[in-house]
Amino acid sequence: MQILHRIQDVREAVKTARAENSGLKVGFVPTMGYLHKGHASLLEAAREQSDLVVLSIFVNPLQFGPNEDLSRYPRDQERDLAVARAAGTDIVFFPSVEEMYPQPTKTVVSVSEVTERLCGAARPGHFDGVATVVTKLFNIVQPDQAYFGLKDAQQIAVIQQMVDDLNTPVGIVPCPIVREEDGLAMSSRNVYLQPEERKQALVLSAALRMAEGLVQSDSGSLQAEELRQAVIDHIRQSPLADIDYADILAYPSLVPVTDLRSTPAFIIALAVKFGKTRLIDNIIIRK
Ligand code: PAJ
Repeated sequence: MQILHRIQDVREAVKTARAENSGLKVGFVPTMGYLHKGHASLLEAAREQSDLVVLSIFVNPLQFGPNEDLSRYPRDQERDLAVARAAGTDIVFFPSVEEMYPQPTKTVVSVSEVTERLCGAARPGHFDGVATVVTKLFNIVQPDQAYFGLKDAQQIAVIQQMVDDLNTPVGIVPCPIVREEDGLAMSSRNVYLQPEERKQALVLSAALRMAEGLVQSDSGSLQAEELRQAVIDHIRQSPLADIDYADILAYPSLVPVTDLRSTPAFIIALAVKFGKTRLIDNIIIRK
């Protein structure tokens, strides 16, 4: 496994590998590190489907708001490298902030409409930061396929829209949410949770399972707003849960839905704070 810090070195490593094998398939997994089994599942999918697996670890300042957790975002380089190695990664790109942003960027990639709601509304500028850094990373690595987790379903919708609009020759591969045994979606931010918050955080996945059950047993009269209220009522049973949003939208367009029956796929998306920690989770229900 090669560990590279410079853009030029990544370009050269990928170029050399392509020169040796003209049909080489490059799979890319962008992350912000503090890797867990969710990230490992993306690396494993990339490993299965590609000849060369590139992982990036970069805590991107551009996608954090002024009052967010950039300075305390968890980091553990040694463990990240062990996870990367175990998943069969070939190249780890570990740039510094100076390497990625030698000067403040004057170019920002901004995707409209799919960013209007959910985290796009709750975290102004967040998806501009994501779309900009992913564009830079795609230009540096030039992968054939890039792997993203459905844990961040809106992020996938944004990146897919971006590559469609800009004719970026990268296939976007969505991968399922990996959960702890008790249902909590894995997240680098779970380490922030105090023991009682960690217990109550189970309400997110429980509310989504409850909602899925309601949809499955519905004879056709269930309305989106009714389902949304049931989810909110369920979450409010946990006293530490402070709901940022709980929304039901068509997926991947992320426009509001009223009639669930006429919507081929919709997402129930949650962002809930426990103390200082903001967790997200979702389920996509397809008819
Ligand atoms: P990060 O939060 O580190 O996540 C990296 C990738 O891992 C994302 O595609 C995310 O959806 C996926 N992931 C996280 N938790 C997961 C889980 N429990 N199951 C499955 N996949 C999971 O997302 C980012 O970083 C950044 O925004 C990035 C795309 C790297 C741009 O900076």
